[in-house]
Amino acid sequence: METKNDKLVRMVNISKFFGEVTALKEENFEVGYNEVVGLIGDNGAGKSTLIKILTGVYTPDKGEIYFKGEEITYHSVERARKLGIETVYQEKALGEQQTLWRNIFMGREMTGRLGFIQIKKAKEETERILKEVIGFTAAGVTPDSVVERLSGGEKQGVAIARALHFEAELIILDEPTMALSLAETKKVLNFVKGIKEQGKSCIFITHNIYHVYPAADRFVVLDRGRTVGEFIKKDISLDELVKKLYLVARTGEIS
Ligand SMILES: Nc1ncnc2c1ncn2[C@@H]1O[C@H](COP(=O)(O)OP(=O)(O)OP(=O)(O)O)[C@@H](O)[C@H]1O
Ligand SMILES: [Mg+2]
Repeated sequence: METKNDKLVRMVNISKFFGEVTALKEENFEVGYNEVVGLIGDNGAGKSTLIKILTGVYTPDKGEIYFKGEEITYHSVERARKLGIETVYQEKALGEQQTLWRNIFMGREMTGRLGFIQIKKAKEETERILKEVIGFTAAGVTPDSVVERLSGGEKQGVAIARALHFEAELIILDEPTMALSLAETKKVLNFVKGIKEQGKSCIFITHNIYHVYPAADRFVVLDRGRTVGEFIKKDISLDELVKKLYLVARTGEIS
C-alpha cells in the first residue's frame, strides 16, 4: 500500500506564474529515499523554478509540497535547509579566497567553550570529510588548500562534502557540469555516487543527458513547465532516452 511517507519529497499540482509566463503548470514531481533523480529539459523548461520552489526561494502560486509526508506550508530558504535540503550551485557555492576547512565550516564554525573557533579540530575534521565522506583522492588537495586553486569539479566535491557532513537528506545540483571538461564532469558524477552511498537523495539538473545518465536512478523530462516523461534507468538505454529527448524537442511530446 502506498502512503504519503513513501517518498522523501512530493510536489503536487505545482503552478508558478511570472506575469504572463507560466513557468510550471500543475507539475507533479517526486524524489524517493536514497534516489538520484536526473531532471532534464531545455532552456526555460522550468527546472530551476521547480527546485527554487522546493528550496523555499519561491512560493508556488498553486499546489502542495510534502517532505517525509509532512506538508510544508511555510516556504523559506532557512526552513528548507533545516529540513535537510541543500542546493549546490556551480561556482558561487564556495568562498574563493578561503581555505577548504574554512569553507566546510563556514557559518557553522566549531567553537570551544570560550567561543573560539577550534582550528586544529576543524582541519582534522575537514581532512576526514574529504577522504571518507566524498573519497577525495587528489594529492594536492589538503584542508589548507585555497578554493580558487581547485578545479571546477573539485569545488563541487567540496560543496557536496559539506552538505553531506551537515546531514543533508537531499542535495540539489543545478547544472553542476555546465562549464566543466569531461574529466571534471566525471569527478562530479563520482561525488554524486558518494551521495547515493551515504544513503541520501539527489536531484541532478542538466541539459545534457550524457552527463546525468551514469549517475541517476530515474529521469524526469520537463518541457514548458510540465513533466512529459519519466523513466527508470533499468527500463531504458541511453540511446533510447536520447531518441525520446529529440522527440520532445521536436514535438513537445514524448511518444
Ligand atoms: N524570476 C523570474 N521572473 C520572470 N520570469 C522567470 C523568472 N524565473 C524564471 N522565469 C521564466 O520561467 C520559465 C522557466 O525558467 P527556469 O529558469 O525555471 O528554466 P530552466 O529549465 O531552469 O532553464 P535553463 O536550462 O535555461 O536554466 C522561463 O520562461 C523563464 O524565463
Ligand atoms: Mg535553470
